[in-house]
Amino acid sequence: MDENQLNTLFSNGILVDSSIKDVNILDIDELLNSLKQNNINFLDINVFHKLYDGDVVDDSTVEIIKNYTGEISESKPINWVNYFNDRFNRLKALLLLKDRSGLMSVANVKDLPQNSDVKIIAMVSEVSISPIKKYTILDVEDNTGSYKAIITSANQEILEDQVIMIIGKKYNDAIFVKDIVFPDIQMKERTKQEIDDSFVLFLSDIHAGSKLFAEEAFERFIKWINGEIEEYSSIAKLVKFIVFNGDLIDGIGVYPDQEKELEIKDLKGQYEKLYTFLDRIPKGIKLLLSQGNHDATHIAEPQPKLDENFAGSLYKLKNAVFLSNPYQVNLVINKSKLNLLAYHGFSIPYYANKISKYSKMDAEDIENIMKIHLKSRHLAPSHGSTQLMPLPRDYLVIDETPDVYATGHIHKTLASMYKGTVLINSSCWQYQTSYQKKYGVVPDIAKVPIVNIRDKSFQILDFLGDTVQTYTKGLRNN
Ligand SMILES: [Fe+2]
Ligand SMILES: [Fe+2]
Repeated sequence: MDENQLNTLFSNGILVDSSIKDVNILDIDELLNSLKQNNINFLDINVFHKLYDGDVVDDSTVEIIKNYTGEISESKPINWVNYFNDRFNRLKALLLLKDRSGLMSVANVKDLPQNSDVKIIAMVSEVSISPIKKYTILDVEDNTGSYKAIITSANQEILEDQVIMIIGKKYNDAIFVKDIVFPDIQMKERTKQEIDDSFVLFLSDIHAGSKLFAEEAFERFIKWINGEIEEYSSIAKLVKFIVFNGDLIDGIGVYPDQEKELEIKDLKGQYEKLYTFLDRIPKGIKLLLSQGNHDATHIAEPQPKLDENFAGSLYKLKNAVFLSNPYQVNLVINKSKLNLLAYHGFSIPYYANKISKYSKMDAEDIENIMKIHLKSRHLAPSHGSTQLMPLPRDYLVIDETPDVYATGHIHKTLASMYKGTVLINSSCWQYQTSYQKKYGVVPDIAKVPIVNIRDKSFQILDFLGDTVQTYTKGLRNN
């Protein structure tokens, strides 16, 4: 808003909140008329959007980095070969950026004399831990051949299909490993950007249509974002983006006997229910919508954007941005950017089962599993940790280090930081299902992790109680 527009408002007796100053208004007379007609003499961002949605020059945009647009590939051997070659070559390229000196191929290693130094980049094809000595025995391969590598300790975090750099010595037709280098993310700086405080909220697993949908809590969230709840309303006013990271609806036939727990038994109806809530979010806030395993799509990843045939109601939202699962975008405010990688998180439980020390799935375990994704530079490093579509390009490779890596799916809350990248898991809006009860899963409900785009600081708000309060249980390394 320019100085003349502000003066026009002041001279007409309208007080202005600081949240309004970054909004560009095309027609100040029209706004003034609306304010007078509605007897409003105080203008903040929420009032503004209620009155004036539409002709706004927005200062926030979503810049797409990676978004799967729906191409299909059949599960044929040649497609799998091409898929794994693409994954291997891209992860190898990331490792080469770290260190390329003295590198050799597996074929070269076979020709080396005993006790020679070895350095290779390879994909792990098999991992076993020897029962007596507790050595980790790896079968590794590159496109010239395969070989054995031995780590003289039990290492649960070397996983099948990871691409790693192995440094060691050749001895008796195996490599005795001295060091393993993961592709890993780069250290991200945590500098303050040249913008005012601006927030992005992380929600997922709404499960609209379920009888167990935490509707009261979601209603509280909607009231809060509209400035109708006093607690933390200073944050609500400055929210620019809301991420809805999959499982927007409960779906149909996803788990045994789900039907008994469904309030709405058709997919369209479930999305319509969600629409009635999302339509009440101020239109100046961008909604980033993507799918999970409960949504109306194929389960193999990547998953495309929401299907208009089922989720047509959501396509009426002027402020919605429809994205694939996973996706990577820049959230842009003026010239400041926050690089966001969002993945629903289907592969997470696989690692909790595979790595016994992470089986509790508490905040620390989730953090460690998300770190495995980042260190492996892949959202499902082991084949079988999620269902995949063998496309010529692997969308689950993490090409760029994000500022925020956000997941959902496991119905737990986490906000943490690893090497300057914020890690988020965004709880859920569904009470414990019979299926979860059977497996002893106790969900975190109606917790909303929040990241300040200005400096990547984070916190969690809790909408489950009678009022809005902070939630510290899932908070780590802030
Ligand atoms: Fe879910
Ligand atoms: Fe899910």
